[in-house]
Amino acid sequence: MAVFSMMVSLPVLPMLVIALVLTTCAAIEDIWFFGIEPYTIVVPVGLSVQIGKELMLDEINKKADLLPGYRLRMAHQDGQCSADRVSNMFLGNLFKDTYEVFAPGLDPLTLNRDGVGAVSYDDSSIFNEVWTSANMSGGPVGLIGGGRSGGTMAINNVANMANVPIVSALSSNPGLSDRSKYPNFWRTVMPDAQFAGAWMATTKVLGFSNMTVVIGETSVWTPHAASVLRQSEAHGMALKGVDLSEEFEWQGEPLEGFAG
Ligand SMILES: *[C@@H]1O[C@H](CO)[C@@H](O)[C@H](O)[C@H]1NC(C)=O
Ligand SMILES: *[C@@H]1O[C@H](CO)[C@@H](O)[C@H](O)[C@H]1NC(C)=O
Repeated sequence: MAVFSMMVSLPVLPMLVIALVLTTCAAIEDIWFFGIEPYTIVVPVGLSVQIGKELMLDEINKKADLLPGYRLRMAHQDGQCSADRVSNMFLGNLFKDTYEVFAPGLDPLTLNRDGVGAVSYDDSSIFNEVWTSANMSGGPVGLIGGGRSGGTMAINNVANMANVPIVSALSSNPGLSDRSKYPNFWRTVMPDAQFAGAWMATTKVLGFSNMTVVIGETSVWTPHAASVLRQSEAHGMALKGVDLSEEFEWQGEPLEGFAG
């Protein structure tokens, strides 16, 4: 009897251990996100977005009771500041199952190979890897990013059709607040339209009633201009200086989602 139980228990114990390990592994399932942002623009902002996202994922994953059994992960892709590049990357993800993943597994603070300025595309792109959805538990389920508003707007419709929700911390164009056009878009950043009103209300309280606006001459400023004009009327703030409003191409679109 003693011999029999000895023979049984010897192989059973390692099997139990293996079964336990397998159960533990199977219990943790990875959930992947697309992460497209301007990681290598010439100012350090881009890389801080990548670092910030990883910190955020770490915090969520550390809380065992938040998403028990799941671990959030992200395939970072460097969309730079180009709506075309963001669009091509995302379409490549969806239709060609190709992901140019940004320097996976490397400490982003080591990527500035030439030591000049911030991490550039030339610094980091040699570390990029091409992945497929097979590397990511079948593929990402949502997009944290889009980068600047132009890129987010360019991919939003196809993302909606593909059931990919988008959450952005950078895309601040007021137009993206239009839920009829961007039903799958959410953001953690304040839309630009909110800024002018809040700022003017503050300056009114401080006793100012005249202001002049200094702008950069890019189309990105267009939705700001629209909200500055509206908010200056709403707050009785007189705009002084040269009126450039007629020189802007209003395009109509950025104003439609104005909510401020
Ligand atoms: C991605 O999948 C390919 C094919 O299975 C494999 O060769 C490669 O090592 C994987 N890469 C990573 C980072 O998982
Ligand atoms: C605003 O400008 C007007 C003249 O354009 C001036 O009369 C008024 O004193 C100014 N207000 C303040 C608070 O500076």
